Amino acid sequence: MAFPPSFLEELRSRLPLSGIVAKRVRMVRAGREFKGCCPFHNEKTPSFYVNDDKQFYHCFGCGSHGDIIGFTMRFDHLSFPEAVEILAAQAGLQVPQDTPQEREQYNLEKRLYQVLERATAWFEEQLFSPQGREALNYLRGRGLTEESIKRFHLGFAPNDSQSMIKKLSGEGFSLDELKAVGLIKKSEDRPDHFSFFRNRVIFPVGDRRGRTVAFGGRVMDDGGPKYLNSPDHVLFHKGKLLYGLSRARAAISQGQPIIVVEGYMDVIALVEEGFHGAAAPLGTALTEDQINILWKLLPPPDTRDPSKDYSPILCFDGDNAGIKASARAVERILPMLTAAQTVRVAYLPEGEDPDSLIKRSGKSSMQSILDQAKPMIDVIWDLTLANRRLTTPEERGAFISSIKHRISRIKDESLRSLYNDEIQKRISAAFSWQKTSTKTGKFNRSNKRELFTTGTPDGLSRKQPLNPQKLRERVLLAIMINHPSLFGEFGEDLAQIGFFTPTLEALRQQLVNLLSDDSHEPLDAEELYRQLSGGADTKIQATGLSETLSEATYVHAGFARPDKPVEQARQGWKSIWNKHLQELLQADMQAAKRQYAENASEENLTRLLALRSQIETLNRESAVGDGTDSTLLLSI
Ligand code: CTP
Ligand code: MN
Repeated sequence: MAFPPSFLEELRSRLPLSGIVAKRVRMVRAGREFKGCCPFHNEKTPSFYVNDDKQFYHCFGCGSHGDIIGFTMRFDHLSFPEAVEILAAQAGLQVPQDTPQEREQYNLEKRLYQVLERATAWFEEQLFSPQGREALNYLRGRGLTEESIKRFHLGFAPNDSQSMIKKLSGEGFSLDELKAVGLIKKSEDRPDHFSFFRNRVIFPVGDRRGRTVAFGGRVMDDGGPKYLNSPDHVLFHKGKLLYGLSRARAAISQGQPIIVVEGYMDVIALVEEGFHGAAAPLGTALTEDQINILWKLLPPPDTRDPSKDYSPILCFDGDNAGIKASARAVERILPMLTAAQTVRVAYLPEGEDPDSLIKRSGKSSMQSILDQAKPMIDVIWDLTLANRRLTTPEERGAFISSIKHRISRIKDESLRSLYNDEIQKRISAAFSWQKTSTKTGKFNRSNKRELFTTGTPDGLSRKQPLNPQKLRERVLLAIMINHPSLFGEFGEDLAQIGFFTPTLEALRQQLVNLLSDDSHEPLDAEELYRQLSGGADTKIQATGLSETLSEATYVHAGFARPDKPVEQARQGWKSIWNKHLQELLQADMQAAKRQYAENASEENLTRLLALRSQIETLNRESAVGDGTDSTLLLSI
């Protein structure tokens, strides 16, 4: 009897092979696999391996090889349908009856896979034919190598509505078959059909086994919707598949993390750089089904290396839209969280997607963004904190109830209670910190920002992608350290304002001292770095120094890199400094307004007016345009 492939697929994915084998054979874990003594020949040392990712077993002794059905047939001496029936019962699946309709369904599915495969090949041929030249140039222009164009089977749908139909009909595929997988549509006013994808670059979308089930088609100019995607059909449900899934699945067995990004090009750019775990939803926000699919790719919890973090990394743009999108994703995922099923979130520099970031700043920048991915607890904390004032008990109360509400949505009881404990600790720590610091803080201009997450599970300090103030401080220091000749022009600026981040403030003071010491020749960058890193009381400064001169800084502000021309660094300084001052003044202004509202004294009014005029002056200066290029600001 013929079972539909989709049914057998479901069966294999529901039952881990190792589980079935382990009921009959003693197995031990061996890296990504299990091994034991082969039940199919006589042996004393194990050479029988089971690989759950690949869903097969293999014996290096006798060469026996097969999947879960083959194993059951051979071990229990069953026929194929018998084995399937037994396994289906264990998996809680209904065995499809071998009715004529079912046989028809099976044959139909097989044909549809074939037509999709042929269409993929045809689109590929078109890309490398004369009429595909523009498309090929487009892809090359976007930095794709021939190798990855081939690896992803990219293609081109020519701007004509009939040639594919003609070709595939000629090979024996019917219009109904082409229509069933969304390759063609029927004209509304005429009796004939036309190709769905025309004059677009084609991205074939593979299922979990890598067989093409759909296509995305991108325009090469600004005309029309940027992407067209195949409609859902028997073999394709866009909310239940991700672009890159089959490769990501293989990557996990190589110990690579899953990286969820937004677009086709992002997946390709990541894979080109060796991030094989990259995957993207298909033009929609990440669905619950997709998250579950990704979690199912992970090794079972009891076989994981406890020193490793297996959670998929979700990447978002660092701008407001990206932060909002991350908040929506978090809301969707919260109820599903368990200790073994969680995610991390990474924010990209504003306006960049992984593809553009890699093209602009290379693999190491992307790596640095991934290294800064935050665990769920930090994501929840920071999202709840964002743009909130915490100065009054009411404001703090609102913060607490909002974060507790979020946590209450976690369904897994034990994890929920662990989250509550952790949040409780953070709240006490944060608010007691705030109480003492408001009295002392000379530079306490924006103390709520310091509440943003800094701890990681491994105890290392975490960079703070969501804290623009700290980032600005770092960028300013990096510019000055890499280009000390700018001290003549900007030294006074740097000397006059304290930094809020303690490590960076220590470094700032040390830097100003070294550079303003005119008892010797001006220091060049190399000598300056030597002295900064070798200074006497350096624990805190050293932390500041390594944070400052890190990829995590440069990725947001390329002009601060040591190899950039000093003029770029100079323009960068002006932009950042201006922004920094503006933010500080705005914070002071808010405080002054509150004070004046509480007590309308002459003194408070004078202060308010003075601040207002300072802000106006600053705005005027930057509006006049002193050559400052606002595009340098990036995400700062
Ligand atoms: N998308 C879509 N339909 C659109 C726009 C986008 O289906 N009209 C989907 C595609 O899967 C796309 C993803 O959303 O890959 C992300 O969209 P976007 O960021 O706009 O495009 P990129 O993938 O960055 O593509 P490119 O770099 O070519 O602009
Ligand atoms: Mn893009």
